[in-house]
Amino acid sequence: MTDEELKDAPSSFDIIGDIAVVHLPENLASKASLIGEAILRVQRSVRVVLGESGRVEGTYRVRRYIHLAGEERTQTIHRENGCLFFVDLSRVYYTPRLSGERLRIASLVSSDEVVADMFAGVGPFAITIAKRSGALVYASELNPAAYELLVKNIEANRLSGRVTPLFGDCREVFRDVKRRFDRVIMNFPSDPLSFLSTALTILKEKGTIHLYGFAESPDDWERLVEDRVKSLGASCSVSAKRLRPISPKKSLHVADVEIN
Ligand SMILES: C[S@@+](CC[C@H](N)C(=O)[O-])C[C@H]1O[C@@H](n2cnc3c(N)ncnc32)[C@H](O)[C@@H]1O
Repeated sequence: MTDEELKDAPSSFDIIGDIAVVHLPENLASKASLIGEAILRVQRSVRVVLGESGRVEGTYRVRRYIHLAGEERTQTIHRENGCLFFVDLSRVYYTPRLSGERLRIASLVSSDEVVADMFAGVGPFAITIAKRSGALVYASELNPAAYELLVKNIEANRLSGRVTPLFGDCREVFRDVKRRFDRVIMNFPSDPLSFLSTALTILKEKGTIHLYGFAESPDDWERLVEDRVKSLGASCSVSAKRLRPISPKKSLHVADVEIN
């Protein structure tokens, strides 16, 4: 590799189960398998190396990957916070980068709560919350492949009856659930505010919403969320924090919204 290529070579990567996922700059495309083989050599637990190809896209928030080295598969079993998750990266969304955030949310939940996870994916928030707090969780998911893995993960973590999976659009499936929730998780940062009225409808008179979204600063996200909640006729106090940078002017934030 040239000095220039070495400078651009990825210095970190995500590990999901036994799969390493790297972000490769375009100028290193010709060195892709070299980099993949190097990762396989240094990370003994890794069996597959994938390169990100494009952005997380569409309603299902799925990314395309290219195979760089190791076995040719995108399915794995990931362990996080004492839970296990069957994942298929080519068909569902999954990031290990929110593991600390999932633990934070689970630590806020008490055992007598009923929680709604509106955008459950394969279940990392729902399952971590149910397993660590003992609360009852209802989890909705629109992507059939993610829903299938959500059901499998509920069983694998022995949470049948404590996490109820709901297949379909959260705006519709929660209508058939005849209970109201103490807490609602909204992890759909690409368009969360369109779903806020559903969250307010399914929440008890007083309750908490954890609302994930992109903004430049925690203050911006806090103001945006507070204005939208008020425009929907509810009163609230909001506290936001930055979780991770996405680009120079955009970060992922979470707003903890207390409806009172
Ligand atoms: C950013 S991912 C988050 C998944 C999960 N919470 C996690 O942390 O891995 C958002 C998920 O919401 C699902 N989704 C999108 N629109 C939906 C809707 N209207 N109702 C239910 N699920 C939806 C997508 O398929 C995707 O799995």
